[in-house]
Amino acid sequence: MEIEVVSAKNSKVFGKCHVPATISIGDLPAQIHKQLKSTPAPNRQSLRLDPRGKALKDSDTLQSLNLRNGVRIYVKDLGPQIAWTTVFLSEYAGPLLVYLLFYARPSIIYGADADKPISLTAHIAAACYTVHYVKRLLETIFVHRFSHATMPIRNLFKNCSYYWGFTAYVSYHVNHPLFTSPCQVQVLVGLAAFALCEIGNFSIHIALRNLRPPGTKVRKIPMPDSNPFTQLFNLVSCPNYTYEIGAWVSFSIMTNCLAAVLFAIAGGYQMMVWALGKHRNYKKEFTQYPKSRKAIFPFIL
Ligand SMILES: NC(=O)c1ccc[n+]([C@@H]2O[C@H](COP(=O)([O-])OP(=O)(O)OC[C@H]3O[C@@H](n4cnc5c(N)ncnc54)[C@H](OP(=O)(O)O)[C@@H]3O)[C@@H](O)[C@H]2O)c1
Repeated sequence: MEIEVVSAKNSKVFGKCHVPATISIGDLPAQIHKQLKSTPAPNRQSLRLDPRGKALKDSDTLQSLNLRNGVRIYVKDLGPQIAWTTVFLSEYAGPLLVYLLFYARPSIIYGADADKPISLTAHIAAACYTVHYVKRLLETIFVHRFSHATMPIRNLFKNCSYYWGFTAYVSYHVNHPLFTSPCQVQVLVGLAAFALCEIGNFSIHIALRNLRPPGTKVRKIPMPDSNPFTQLFNLVSCPNYTYEIGAWVSFSIMTNCLAAVLFAIAGGYQMMVWALGKHRNYKKEFTQYPKSRKAIFPFIL
């Protein structure tokens, strides 16, 4: 069938394209770019039926959307893209380096007090931070099966500033020569809870991976498997975020550090917003989605 391709920004007509009615929206950008060279590269295109409307879903086809011959398809240019893996690697390798920089207690930052011994709690905190970000790096490379290969490059600067900046703030304080550790029981309770939340977060990431066959963009209703940590799927849609928030709350308890509390609140708020969006999408996408599930906090939200 014939489609007319138009810019969503200024309604400039790129031209007409001939494609099979059965083509999926996900495959359409490559065809459009092949036939109309002046359109943005395929991974920069977001297709819609209205210049200000919602993006069409990759899994739909022209036929399933009941589109007729000659239909106008608007192309929104998403701007320069960067591979997700590169994004995650920069987002996560940065905090590791930044945290360890303060942990090394440079005198240029801490002055004459830099020689004071580092407390056991600060050593444990550095180990926890390292384990968390090494785990995330390894998950990015070996576990996650992302559906989108790229994202807009401007997000890289936003996300890196968030992760690197907060890490510097937390690490500066926890490794400060004047840092005062809470009592041993509080440190141990925080450490144990942190470890459990990290294992929980990892378990959920494995369960999400197993939902999607390799090389596909399939989405399914997540369900608990034989790993007891995945039981949280019975209560919330995004238990990986629940565990992640738990890990940073535990880290805050362990260190008694205000900067860590603020990081837990900022990350928690962002994950809450995402979880509400994902929860809404699950309910829209799957009619049989379990009714009793909340988005992120069991029985509450
Ligand atoms: N500290 C913080 O501020 C902070 C903030 C955000 C994230 N994080 C951490 O980073 C991790 C990854 O974040 P994320 O937002 O990318 O996690 P996510 O959206 O929950 O997804 C993780 C992976 O699972 C896939 N997936 C999710 N639901 C699926 C389903 N129903 N069927 C099939 N596959 C599915 C996703 O695919 P798609 O590519 O299709 O989505 C993605 O590859 C989080 O779990 C969290 O631990 C930390």
